[in-house]
Amino acid sequence: MRDGEKVLQPSLGKADFPIFHQREEQSSSCVYLDSAATTHKPSCVIEEMSRFYSCYYGTVYRGIYQASSSVTEAYSRVRDRVKDFINAEFSEEVVFTGGCTAGLNQLAIAFNDSFLSKKGPVVVSEVEHHANVLSWELGAKRVGHSVAKVQVDEQGIIRLDHLESLLRQGAALVSIAHVSNVSGAIQPLAEIVSLVRRYDSLLCLDAAQSIAHQSIDVRMIDVDFMTFSSHKMYGPTGVGVLYGKRSLLEILPPVFGGGDMVDVYASEDTLFQPAPLKFEAGTPPIAEVIGMGKAVEYLGALGLKKISEKESLLTQRILETLLAIPGVTVVGPGKGVPRGSLISITMDKVHPMDMGALLDARGISVRTGHLCAQPAMRRWGVPQMLRVSLGLYNDDEDIETFLRTFEELLAFLS
Ligand code: ALA
Repeated sequence: MRDGEKVLQPSLGKADFPIFHQREEQSSSCVYLDSAATTHKPSCVIEEMSRFYSCYYGTVYRGIYQASSSVTEAYSRVRDRVKDFINAEFSEEVVFTGGCTAGLNQLAIAFNDSFLSKKGPVVVSEVEHHANVLSWELGAKRVGHSVAKVQVDEQGIIRLDHLESLLRQGAALVSIAHVSNVSGAIQPLAEIVSLVRRYDSLLCLDAAQSIAHQSIDVRMIDVDFMTFSSHKMYGPTGVGVLYGKRSLLEILPPVFGGGDMVDVYASEDTLFQPAPLKFEAGTPPIAEVIGMGKAVEYLGALGLKKISEKESLLTQRILETLLAIPGVTVVGPGKGVPRGSLISITMDKVHPMDMGALLDARGISVRTGHLCAQPAMRRWGVPQMLRVSLGLYNDDEDIETFLRTFEELLAFLS
């Protein structure tokens, strides 16, 4: 532990999150139900980033001087911590990226530039958020492939028969969201991995909506690649992780050039550092990586099991009430079926934006619109939805306030 670093004693509620106390002081209520878009930050993350800038700031890898080597150590410790958090085999399998979108795009370019893409198209589901479709479509264009779309059922679960038929025709890789940011459906990974292996393909998991809500073990799942963002897991914006099995990362070419990713420069014959460094061109987002490391430590100290149990009770409570309201349609899995910590709805007589704006006027933040997932809006035949999503700080009072206000506004607007 470094000088000035505090022992973490986290609590499963709002106490660790200064933003909620700030709002209390300003006496504006704050029921935050948009954690699927981004989460608030606990003070340990904010303080660690501030301590880094105030007390031990420096660059990584490049300095012979003490400050730089101790920053390099702190930075590398985050890699080890993330490795343990997702149970990767080697720290070298953890690549720091600019976030989930950046990771997916970087992977899609590298993948399509490698021989791995020769086997056939990449398959994504028909309800992915934009980053997990467009990254692959933009990447596929480089090699003249198209991206195949696997259908989902009414609840948002991938149709395994359709996936198998696409894999049978030859698919280089399947890239899907673990938990959908629209339906909240949790994909059946054991069945998907078994199909992917049977047809000698690869699996990339977009864990943006699951990483802070359930424990993820990349070796147990046997996933080949995985991406997630720090800002959806209580860490800072502008940073995330691309996990890849070491043998696969070795094959992929770098996408960005610059900085310490070079071993020996020789124009077109330049030799690059091994992974992960060859994927981390330029000065990395050092403070953000350090902040993400603290967020990972925070989540680890709380325990994903406890977080998941709390959130799923609250999610089921919202679900039960919404399912019983006439004129409200819940998208995705029904009562008692496991789902992520989010619920999207449509309303027969009310526009999601109107409801969202009126909820906001009462101090309740929810997400409205196409949720950066227009393909999913098409699948469910609506232009927009209203989404409620939870974080570890939400409690019964938040849920009761939301449900009471929602019902009142629905009656008023209908
Ligand atoms: N960040 C996007 C969301 O809010 C995808 O769901």
